[in-house]
Amino acid sequence: MGSHAHTLERPALVLGIESSCDETAVALVTSERAIVAERIASQEAEHAPYGGVVPEIAARAHAERLAPMIEAVLSDAGIGLGDVDAIAATAGPGLIGGVMVGLVSAKALAMASDTRLLAINHLEGHALSPRLADAALGFPYLLLLVSGGHCQILLVEGVGEYRRLATTIDDALGEAFDKTAKILGLGYPGGPAVERLARDGDARAVPLPRPLKGSKEPHFSFAGLKSAVLRAHESGEYSGPDIAASFQAAAIECLLDRLDHALARIETPPALVVAGGVAANLAVREALEALAARHNMRFTAPPLKLCTDNAAMIAWAGCERLPSGQNDPLDFRARPRWPLDPEAETVRGAGVKA
Ligand code: KG4
Ligand code: ZN
Repeated sequence: MGSHAHTLERPALVLGIESSCDETAVALVTSERAIVAERIASQEAEHAPYGGVVPEIAARAHAERLAPMIEAVLSDAGIGLGDVDAIAATAGPGLIGGVMVGLVSAKALAMASDTRLLAINHLEGHALSPRLADAALGFPYLLLLVSGGHCQILLVEGVGEYRRLATTIDDALGEAFDKTAKILGLGYPGGPAVERLARDGDARAVPLPRPLKGSKEPHFSFAGLKSAVLRAHESGEYSGPDIAASFQAAAIECLLDRLDHALARIETPPALVVAGGVAANLAVREALEALAARHNMRFTAPPLKLCTDNAAMIAWAGCERLPSGQNDPLDFRARPRWPLDPEAETVRGAGVKA
């Protein structure tokens, strides 16, 4: 009789906490892919006057908001901490002050409720997020991870099994979108604003470079594209929409070229997947979908709210890690840098920002 309760199959429930950049986020996710409750607070307003994320302001805002948001999510779900199977928090990479706020909170909750602690790599959160939305997505898959701090092509062979095939030698793609937005006076965050403006522009109007296109090296580079955008703007010859559209088209051409390069060197996996903040860009998604079709791969992109930073992807990464028995120690240290593929060679300039 007593053992009956243990044999009852109940999906696991994981509380996820994300605080590595400028979103404070908390979510409850089940191992059966249900997002039971979630809250997200953006710090856009706090950072906007500075044109980018100010680490000290971010850490303070996370510290002020996190505890009430955790309470709110539990109350939204009508449960207590005792009902949670694990607490998963981003432990890096990212702005270290914010990461520490989230991780320390998770440790305190784990200790107080005698619950498992899962220290999650934020990049793994992005990398596995497509599987939260798409139950049919199995391993392996080719992942384009494009965010504010990263631009990588990874072969995802399983949970914790990542082979990095390419990374950026200078700027991340999200960073290039943000800088283009700044040059065009569109404010912060820039990606969505550039995408919107690009819809009214002519993508062939401004001659812009496609850095590393056709290169034998596998990597990305966006610094030269950004400089060319600045020169085009300063020349006064082109409209904002034409610059935005031409920039976006050049960036997408680079993505496609580098993906083709990667696919030429590996056995074609069944699926192409895109994740990270730039995956919210519809022009990027469409171009990747077409590339996948050309290679007879299926294509998956998470819904937009799972592309940019969120806690559901952190909780989901926790769900994926539960079966391994992982239970991280309370002295697990926050990591400002934490590559998904520790064996990949360091490339100049890559991953300097989170
Ligand atoms: O994944 P994310 O939310 O945070 C990081 O971990 O970096 O990515 C944020 C980045 C920003 O650079 C932002 O401008 C970009 O993703 N982004 C976009 C779009 N939405 C967000 N870039 C292009 N088009 C978008 N629609
Ligand atoms: Zn992110």
